[in-house]
Amino acid sequence: MLSEQTRSIVKSTVPVLEEHGVAITTRFYENLFVAHPELLNIFNQANQAQGRQQAALANSVHAAAVHIDNLEEILPTVVQVAHKHVSVGVLPEHYPIVGDYLLKAMKEILGDAATDEILEAWAEAYGVIADAFINVEKDMYKETEDQENGWVFFKDFVVARKVKESDVITSFYLKPADGSDVPPYTPGQYISVRLTMPGEEFLVIRQYSLSQAPKPDEFRISVKSENDNDPNGVVSNYLHRSLNEGDPIEVSAPAGVFVLDLSKTTPVAFISGGVGITPMMSMFETVARSTPERPTAFLHGARNPNQHAFDSDIQSYAKKMENARYKTVYSDEPNGFITREMLEEYVDPASDIYVCGPPRFMEIMIRELRGLGIPEEQIHYEFFGPAMNLTMD
Ligand code: HEM
Repeated sequence: MLSEQTRSIVKSTVPVLEEHGVAITTRFYENLFVAHPELLNIFNQANQAQGRQQAALANSVHAAAVHIDNLEEILPTVVQVAHKHVSVGVLPEHYPIVGDYLLKAMKEILGDAATDEILEAWAEAYGVIADAFINVEKDMYKETEDQENGWVFFKDFVVARKVKESDVITSFYLKPADGSDVPPYTPGQYISVRLTMPGEEFLVIRQYSLSQAPKPDEFRISVKSENDNDPNGVVSNYLHRSLNEGDPIEVSAPAGVFVLDLSKTTPVAFISGGVGITPMMSMFETVARSTPERPTAFLHGARNPNQHAFDSDIQSYAKKMENARYKTVYSDEPNGFITREMLEEYVDPASDIYVCGPPRFMEIMIRELRGLGIPEEQIHYEFFGPAMNLTMD
């Protein structure tokens, strides 16, 4: 437990963190990777290049300072981040290294304003926050390992099948190289894949949602190709062009908190944009197979029919379900967006609603759902990439 004095010093730094947080975390990463280049094997360099990871860390440090009196309030987000940490293989021994470089960066950027008293208070606070992560992650590693067919860190898989789903989306069916089965997962979860790429000195890791209902012997991910000049697409484009049937790839155990509640039979709605359809496919297929009587709506926005994946799969499932409605819109066509009227027409207001897609799409959908008076606890969403705001408000 932090002393009253430590907590008040940490809180007094909130305005400074608001102003300099990104400068501090940017300097932090620069120094960290010079001293510990091996950590470049676990961090996503595209997120670094765009400052997204710096922003995510700055936001979480800031949120920790704001909530320092009551850290339980940020526990749900700690759990969400811990899933990501476990998926990429963060270990307890990494925390003191990160803490050390974070404090050094605070000192470098804030100069004399970072007094010894402030740095000591932050060192103590960081210790408490790090312990919270370490404990949550320890439990998660144990749970993953104890699960049937479970493992920790990365396991060797092979690409069993590669299937083109649209002009831009291709599915990869992945099976353990040792012939074992895969662990069960909750629809909506993701895996990390790890690989070496020609010309890259370090390993690369990326997360992809599992895109089919759980099966005992395989995972499926469905990957979108991007423009060659988009740094976010480097790995996805490589998978599209160069990862073929029979090739090896390392995979981490399923993780993530954006999941379907399997115990429910009440109405449910899936709203996706572009490749945001992938976790929805896993959730929708599961509903179609396990609770087909569940009132279900699936609204999807794609650019055009050529870029629209899984259309016939969804249609054939929907036909067999008792009460499923499916609607797609194409943004290349006039009025090709999911509107508030459409949401009102298709989505039962009592539904649990899952939203996934590009950030702008998600912002609009969430705003419209709130505008329709849907209670916050019924709206579930996940942004791609680093969580931009620890409190997610
Ligand atoms: C991701 C916070 C410690 C490595 C993240 C994210 C946040 C975060 C907010 C983004 C989550 C998301 O993508 O949804 C923190 C905090 C820490 C901490 C507050 C300390 C208390 C560490 C440590 C390591 C680490 C010790 C290991 C050296 C990573 C990696 C990612 C990540 C590799 C994945 C994102 C990427 O590569 O872009 N962390 N983290 N973190 N963190 Fe941490």
